[in-house]
Amino acid sequence: MPELEMSLDGVPLPARPGQSVGAALAAAGVASWRTTRDGRPRGLFCGIGICFDCLITADGVPNQRACLTPVHEGMVLETGEGERDGN
Ligand code: FES
Repeated sequence: MPELEMSLDGVPLPARPGQSVGAALAAAGVASWRTTRDGRPRGLFCGIGICFDCLITADGVPNQRACLTPVHEGMVLETGEGERDGN
């Protein structure tokens, strides 16, 4: 299956059509992409849209669940800090 390219904080990363953002990031070796307000890393946890640990800014839209958001060519992803209280 042909690859497409997305970026995380300006760093180009490969992805495959049909992948979620979370799956593509994990496949690229990225384990976390946001931190809580007290600096703890967060990435995929449940993988099914329940826990909200995987929030990411995708194409300028904050707080998107990476495990449910499909990738597309040229997608711009940004890491974040403290988007969710208490986690
Ligand atoms: S990993 Fe739990 S909502 Fe995405």
